[in-house]
Amino acid sequence: MKVLVTGAAGMLGTALCKELAKKGYEVSPTDIGSTTPAMDYLDITDLKAVNDFIKRSKPDLIFHAAAETDVDRCEIEVDHAYKINTLGTENVALSCQRYDIAMVYVSTCGVFDGTKEAPYNEFDAPSPISIYTKSKYEGEKAVRCLLRRYFIFRAGWMIGGGKKDKKFVAKIVELLKTKDAISVVNDKFGCPTYTKDFSEGMLKVVDLARYGLYHITNEGQASRYDIACKIVEYLKKNNVAIKPISSAAFPLPAPRPRSEVVDNYKLKLLGIKMRPWEEALREYLNEFNDE
Ligand SMILES: NC(=O)c1ccc[n+]([C@@H]2O[C@H](COP(=O)([O-])OP(=O)(O)OC[C@H]3O[C@@H](n4cnc5c(N)ncnc54)[C@H](OP(=O)(O)O)[C@@H]3O)[C@@H](O)[C@H]2O)c1
Repeated sequence: MKVLVTGAAGMLGTALCKELAKKGYEVSPTDIGSTTPAMDYLDITDLKAVNDFIKRSKPDLIFHAAAETDVDRCEIEVDHAYKINTLGTENVALSCQRYDIAMVYVSTCGVFDGTKEAPYNEFDAPSPISIYTKSKYEGEKAVRCLLRRYFIFRAGWMIGGGKKDKKFVAKIVELLKTKDAISVVNDKFGCPTYTKDFSEGMLKVVDLARYGLYHITNEGQASRYDIACKIVEYLKKNNVAIKPISSAAFPLPAPRPRSEVVDNYKLKLLGIKMRPWEEALREYLNEFNDE
């Protein structure tokens, strides 16, 4: 089976391509940034380029992971966010419609407003509060409206990427090298999601050909502070103090919901289990440190 991946050079794309190759898929990786000789340049905002590429490469399935993932940049550069995350997704979906190809769209658990006390499941109505999450949710709507054979997988706070990690874990690991104390927000909650586990989860659902919308995160929930404490524990950096602080002390351009905690409800109904985030984080840090 031939699989095209957009955003293949990114944090998730890298793990996904590895997982796909391991499972015997023929992988066609594409991206606009840091492409290698084995990776083709494909800008998802260019519909003609997307159509030409897909017509030529004839994949059986497309994993669409390309996105503008800098949440604060999206809040400031609104047109840029919608152009990539919504129109770019529409382009991939339009091309899938034209050439009758099944599509996987990677979305985010951040599409909710965060006011619900209990974890959100797939049947809760999204109500995104930032430009990034609005643009991702509009992407979901385009995929649903244009295609019959689609998977939408919402991920939680991503862990992974090694040197390509631009997110929270990499920032904490870097700070631990030089600081004696780090202040970390303890009033925002989410579900850590290891790129490797997320990729495996997606492939299990894809194998079943059960099209639709799914939440895929590691089990359990955490604040940023909880995650930082675990990083300190696993890297044995107990000499660095992790101090809990309110997000009000860290004003950022984009609003973050109080809670992005979700339940992998549909995954559980299918009998697919995800391991606890602590276990996944420990494994990732071991591998990352060996790189
Ligand atoms: N990271 C998270 O915590 C998180 C959580 C939930 C969901 N997600 C979703 O998961 C997916 C993968 O995210 P990630 O963390 O792997 O992000 P990432 O590391 O930023 O990877 C995204 C990739 O897409 C590329 N890209 C940007 N604009 C493009 C365009 N016009 N055409 C083709 N490629 C383009 C980026 O290149 P440049 O780096 O050069 O821009 C980057 O290589 C995204 O859909 C994201 O919304 C991420």
